[in-house]
Amino acid sequence: MNKTIKPINYLRGEISLPGDKSISHRAVLIGGISSGKTRARNFLEAIDSMHTVSAFREMGVDVKVSKKEVIVFGSGLRGLAKPARKLYLGNSGTTMRILPGLLAGQNFEATLTGDPSLSKRPMKRITEPLREMGVDISAGGGDTPPLVIRGGRVNAIKYSTKVASAQVKSCILLAGLYADGVTCVTEPFTSRDHTERMLEFFGAKISKSNGTVSVVGKAELRGSEFFVPGDISSAAFFIAGAALLEGSDLTVREVGLNPTRMGFIDVLLRMGANIKVTTKIDALEPYGDIKVKFASLKSVVIEKSEVPLLIDEVPILSVLAAQARGQTIIKGISELRVKETDRIFSITENLKRMGVEIRAENENLVISGSKKRFEKAVLDSFKDHRTAMAMAIAALFSKGECIVRDTECISTSFPEFFTMLETLQT
Ligand code: S3P
Repeated sequence: MNKTIKPINYLRGEISLPGDKSISHRAVLIGGISSGKTRARNFLEAIDSMHTVSAFREMGVDVKVSKKEVIVFGSGLRGLAKPARKLYLGNSGTTMRILPGLLAGQNFEATLTGDPSLSKRPMKRITEPLREMGVDISAGGGDTPPLVIRGGRVNAIKYSTKVASAQVKSCILLAGLYADGVTCVTEPFTSRDHTERMLEFFGAKISKSNGTVSVVGKAELRGSEFFVPGDISSAAFFIAGAALLEGSDLTVREVGLNPTRMGFIDVLLRMGANIKVTTKIDALEPYGDIKVKFASLKSVVIEKSEVPLLIDEVPILSVLAAQARGQTIIKGISELRVKETDRIFSITENLKRMGVEIRAENENLVISGSKKRFEKAVLDSFKDHRTAMAMAIAALFSKGECIVRDTECISTSFPEFFTMLETLQT
């Protein structure tokens, strides 16, 4: 579906967003191997998270999803049933990379497949540590999906990851639940910590020190209840729109404020944005309200160590940088090449079509900001939800009507995106 977008002057109003995608996946992944009932309110009913739900149903877990709530009747650590067919995970890289960790401890063989984009994404980052843990796992040529996991015995390891990745860390920690002893994961930089928070909340012994997270094996997990805060990565699109458009006044209610996801807000504040984080509730996952008004932005340098804290926000951050005074440099973003699409290409190609001076230089993105509205253009999602939403927001700040091609992909993480955007324009 192609979407025509007209330029506007402001985003105004109050919104509450669907639940965080990363936390929603984990509610099912961790709830499914716990004992008893897990209930998560404000669960994200998007295509990606529903693929995790389907996979667990295929493995005999009773998962009920209704009215933005998920209830998972967990099967216990080793209680999953052999699926009758291959588990199809669509576009969901998070499910593909985390699920093998807990399949490592089951007594059956399972095959995980995905759509053409997911089938090209690198899996060596999880097959390597899992093999080191003694797990029998094979991937397609080039270490891409499909993955075949023959679960059984798992050994504890101490592992240092080459990339800072919450998916890899989560996979290893979940496999570590099945081992005797302590499994430790050390990352070059801190990545989002939803898995370790939820494991601890459900009764596992977790410790953290100097970039290393450890889990004690043979844990007893008990199901629990919690609220899934609004997805800060989805909020980022509206926050950016409000920061760009002069008459804006936007409040995003009950949005996640986990420090390992706050890179986008921190960078925006450095750019001079008018953002206020108001109430803060300290729960399993902290949340609060974010208020945004227009402000004239200035350029910024984002260091490699900050990138994991805003990894999914680089496309929309690039749009903002294109409107900020001066030259913005986002360093160390090679991971963007292996997301749902090559996001370095998708961002540079689209923003160039809108008249922006932008280039990829080694591992960095260099963007020259100008205060002028973007040129009108035909833009492409490249079948990537975050590219599509970032370009839809850029189109609001253009000189004329733009088209964003292939916007169906937005439903993988945020089916309500366009409807909510419309409510903020009246
Ligand atoms: C995610 C981790 C990130 C992020 C993805 C969700 C997660 O990926 O890009 O959208 O839920 O763990 P990496 O772990 O590859 O950085």
